[in-house]
Amino acid sequence: MPITFATEAMHDDTDRPGLYTYSPNIGSWFVRAAKPVSYEIRFCTDVFNPDRGDLATAGGAVDGARRRIVIIDEAVDLLYGDRVRKYFKHHDIDATVTVIPVDETVKNCDTATQVIRDIDRFGIARRHEPIIAIGGGVLMDVVGMVSSLYRRGTPFIRVPTTLIGLVDAGVGVKTGVNFDGHKNRLGAYFPADLTLLDKSLLATLDRRHISNGLAEILKMGLIKDKRLFELLEEFGSRLLAERFQNSGPEGDEVLARAIHGMLEELQPNLWEAKLERSVDYGHTFSPTVEMRALPALLHGEAVCIDMATTTLIAWERGLLADDQRNRIFTVMRELELPSWDPVLKPELLVNALQDTVRHRDGKQRLPLPKGIGDVVFVNDVTPDEIALALGYQRQLGLSHTDLATEARA
Ligand SMILES: NC(=O)c1ccc[n+]([C@@H]2O[C@H](COP(=O)([O-])OP(=O)(O)OC[C@H]3O[C@@H](n4cnc5c(N)ncnc54)[C@H](O)[C@@H]3O)[C@@H](O)[C@H]2O)c1
Ligand SMILES: [Zn+2]
Repeated sequence: MPITFATEAMHDDTDRPGLYTYSPNIGSWFVRAAKPVSYEIRFCTDVFNPDRGDLATAGGAVDGARRRIVIIDEAVDLLYGDRVRKYFKHHDIDATVTVIPVDETVKNCDTATQVIRDIDRFGIARRHEPIIAIGGGVLMDVVGMVSSLYRRGTPFIRVPTTLIGLVDAGVGVKTGVNFDGHKNRLGAYFPADLTLLDKSLLATLDRRHISNGLAEILKMGLIKDKRLFELLEEFGSRLLAERFQNSGPEGDEVLARAIHGMLEELQPNLWEAKLERSVDYGHTFSPTVEMRALPALLHGEAVCIDMATTTLIAWERGLLADDQRNRIFTVMRELELPSWDPVLKPELLVNALQDTVRHRDGKQRLPLPKGIGDVVFVNDVTPDEIALALGYQRQLGLSHTDLATEARA
């Protein structure tokens, strides 16, 4: 005998979007709800200057008292920790600064658990005391994942301190850690309420990590922004040497175009319902290559090596002309990025592609450059094609060792 209720159906309407229905005949409830998402990414000059309110005014107070837990990368703490502490003191915020040493090898559940313990000990208020993450992509990914888990979601704020952080890891909503040798195998889509981008923090970053970030910028140029690619061709090596400090309108344009382009791609597909993602360019083979080479290759370097392989696959298919292929390899070299690594073997890349096919739900959905500044997706790359591309890559590509030899010459 079906049980009936007074209200059995509530349909979409403007005041109460979503759907809730009960079907007495089959004894089934159906629920649909939509969660609006909004987050801000803001350029901010000299973020730890006490005169700047951006960081201090984000979040709220509990019983008139303002407290924050600040999770900061150890290397960043050594350089900026005093300024960070003074900043919060100046703004009358009781800040507990937790320092954690992070790099790709410890981007894992143990580090995440350690951060959770620190937050628990701090005794955070659920909505008004956003967790503040200050560091590179690794720290932000770990703290972001912890924020998504802690009480099933606690707000957080990011201050990226690396170039990858500024143009990529600090722009989207992906958080995560590596697991059992697999890159970002665990994680959540969880936006930071506010991300403050201060390029002056790049002044202390070592040159290799600037190159590393330039790889993700090059990716944006190759698949959607010819002008960005041309800016890198013309000014890339200068921007690298200057670390984007006092680098004039070109430096600002490169950063703004990279971030704007990234958001243009991410916003309509924030939860990755669509798995054909142009921003996945350079991320087909690289997750496996990066983990296999760890710690020899940084994230952006592995991405660049993947872009070198896929540039050659595109060129073999007639999607790129000879001169376009050469220009791409020249830019990689000018940005001091490796385009070859001794770990590259056809079997490794074939396995990498298989894992990526599972990640992309059964199809390759492999982005390839079409000329410079455009993209196509293919599903039929073969092991022979990969082996052929690797043969060319061995000749045209430069490894870290090759780059170092060139620099000495
Ligand atoms: N979530 C995303 O959408 C996304 C996007 C791109 C990359 N990522 C992830 O980001 C990670 C790479 O990030 P990364 O390149 O920033 O690495 P990282 O966080 O390891 O930082 C690089 C190094 O620079 C040091 N450092 C950080 N800021 C500094 C500063 N201002 N001055 C001096 N030294 C500083 C760090 O201590 C570290 O040794 C990878 O794990 C990658 O998967 C995530
Ligand atoms: Zn990346």
